[in-house]
Amino acid sequence: MDNYHPIAAVDSLADGACRSVEVRGQRLLLARVGGEFHAVDDVCPHRGAPLGSGFLQGHEVFCPLHGWSFDVTSGACLTRPDKPLRRYSTAVRDGQVWVALTPDAPATAPA
Ligand code: FES
Repeated sequence: MDNYHPIAAVDSLADGACRSVEVRGQRLLLARVGGEFHAVDDVCPHRGAPLGSGFLQGHEVFCPLHGWSFDVTSGACLTRPDKPLRRYSTAVRDGQVWVALTPDAPATAPA
């Protein structure tokens, strides 16, 4: 847990919701889907909109500006597969959601 940082109380995000969080100067989108927490970049690779202000439907978040969609569980961009978000590992401990600030391997959209 050396690289993990607390980002939110578990009870502060309802299942099926998402929001922007900032940790150590880095903006992340935190989403809760099926009881699991997922963290990806909060900055849309199209024109930089905050994805945490977007609409979450299932595991898919839609950008508030032009509607590109992303899978919050993998970071894959479902609109433009060549524009994935970085995904960050999360953990729950002591009633807090923690995130590792080293991104996982880049995501690719499902074939
Ligand atoms: S800024 Fe996100 S789709 Fe355009």
